[in-house]
Amino acid sequence: EKDGYDWFMRKEIFEQPRAVADTLLGRTDAEGRLLLDESSISAEELRAIDKIIVVACGTAFYAGLVAKYAIEHWTRISCEVELASEFRYRDPIVDARTLVVTISQSGETMDTLMAIRHAREQGAKVMAICNTNGSTIPRESDAVIYTHAGPEIGVASTKGFLTQVVACYLLGLYLAQVRGTKFGDEVAATLAELQRTPEAIQRVLDDLEVVHKLARDLVDAPSVLFLGRHAGYPVALEGALKLKELAYIHAEGFAAGELKHGPIALIDTDLPVFVVVPPKGRDQLHDKVISNVQEIRARGARTIVLAEEGDADVAAYADTLITLPKVPTLLQPLLATVPLQVFACELATLKGHDVDQPRNLAKSVTVE
Ligand code: F6R
Repeated sequence: EKDGYDWFMRKEIFEQPRAVADTLLGRTDAEGRLLLDESSISAEELRAIDKIIVVACGTAFYAGLVAKYAIEHWTRISCEVELASEFRYRDPIVDARTLVVTISQSGETMDTLMAIRHAREQGAKVMAICNTNGSTIPRESDAVIYTHAGPEIGVASTKGFLTQVVACYLLGLYLAQVRGTKFGDEVAATLAELQRTPEAIQRVLDDLEVVHKLARDLVDAPSVLFLGRHAGYPVALEGALKLKELAYIHAEGFAAGELKHGPIALIDTDLPVFVVVPPKGRDQLHDKVISNVQEIRARGARTIVLAEEGDADVAAYADTLITLPKVPTLLQPLLATVPLQVFACELATLKGHDVDQPRNLAKSVTVE
């Protein structure tokens, strides 16, 4: 059932264009308005909420970090993101005007489930983003947006993550539509951008030679850093997590803007650094991250830069350049994550590890 792939994980990485397309399928009516028909939270209730808290674990938590950038930008509702294992124990401020959004591939993660129970006891509405029909988390939530990734067998989440990010975008756009912060044609335009991402992901998957070479080059690296900013920050965290869990290499993800507040002390010639560069936009994010790349390179570290194709500013500072098709900044995680998944899978394979069943890990964590 691996369809000729060596690992389920690799098969699932290559299924991502399809998984993302399926998660986007059938979400609009004839006028192009978004419908989330699995939602039993009324439009009126959604108009009344004054705060969103996204609660999840691991990779799903990183999808939640992407959600924060998109949801706040599109809806102007304050959105916090919290690890499920921390949420319940800090006496969170939650009431009937709070929407708690939980993200879980398996739908059985105990930390996330306990957070849901706690939130509902305080009167909050809970919206689940989940990949598993009929699992416990959607059953105990007020509403659910199903991701349509299909079963994920590899322990490390890949297509689960990308489809969670897509579901978060759909939720953000839906809330914006319901609350009037984004109107029909704007929602339709962003949806159209989203509809083009499966093809863009496919282009990333068709061009992995440089990533495979990188895995061969770095197979003995003792430690790897990942930097990103804005929506690229969760991508950096996810890249580091994949490398830890699959290749058992120490890896850390940082917000690029934090470099000079500490991590720059780690930089030397033995430490490869991945940097996710935001697309060129009207703000200065792109230029600021490029100056981070320069600072890293000046200290002799190998720079591995993920940037939009045609970005002439990065080439001079990238020891290795991984190019990504052009998409808006908020959607870039759907592309930038993919080479990092492949890098971790490939490097773990070269090291002879069991990629589908990394040591000490379980596919769903049903204990707290
Ligand atoms: C990492 C990974 C885990 C899960 C986490 C949450 O590759 O798979 O970090 O993302 O255990 O699992 P779910 O999404 O099933 O709640």
